[in-house]
Amino acid sequence: MLDIIKTRRSIRKFKPEKIEDSTIEKIIEMGTWAPSGLNNQPWRFVIVKGKETKDKLAQQTKYSHIIENAPVCVAVFLDNAASYDRVKDIQAIGACLQNMLLAIHAMGLGGVWLGEILKRRKEVEKLLGVPEPCELMAVIALGKPAEEKGEGRRKPIEQVILSRR
Ligand SMILES: Cc1cc2nc3c(=O)[nH]c(=O)nc-3n(C[C@H](O)[C@H](O)[C@H](O)COP(=O)(O)O)c2cc1C
Repeated sequence: MLDIIKTRRSIRKFKPEKIEDSTIEKIIEMGTWAPSGLNNQPWRFVIVKGKETKDKLAQQTKYSHIIENAPVCVAVFLDNAASYDRVKDIQAIGACLQNMLLAIHAMGLGGVWLGEILKRRKEVEKLLGVPEPCELMAVIALGKPAEEKGEGRRKPIEQVILSRR
């Protein structure tokens, strides 16, 4: 687990090979094993594989090339109808997204969390036809990795620990 956390990198280039539905569903299932306040599980998902919808989704972000190149994208939403505390619900969605990225990596696939697309959140929600209370939180683009990345970079923990008391 520690190795999976540390070796996960954002993958933005993918091989054209298809990803099995069962694999996509496994990744989403792993997302749903994230903790949530009161176990309210406020996450909802739309799987985007069809070229037409995927191309339209790609047009909603300056990172269009990543979405176009990915065999599948998963859009992740907060269902405001299931929400009980906005900050905590958004934190739970973050945990869900990270679980998905770790599962993707553990399965030998690659993925990236796309947030810039939130600038056109309303357009994406309309395009994907989600119910009104569903609010876009991020899109994960994933597939078989077509790039190899070295070690990531993080600040040393001494820079981020404020104090020891
Ligand atoms: C909230 C959030 C939004 C992000 N948005 C984007 C994005 O729109 N486009 C992109 O290419 N990467 C995006 N990323 C990925 C980050 O750039 C990446 O995680 C960071 O540079 C660290 O690299 P690593 O994931 O390889 O460790 C986002 C990550 C997070 C957590």
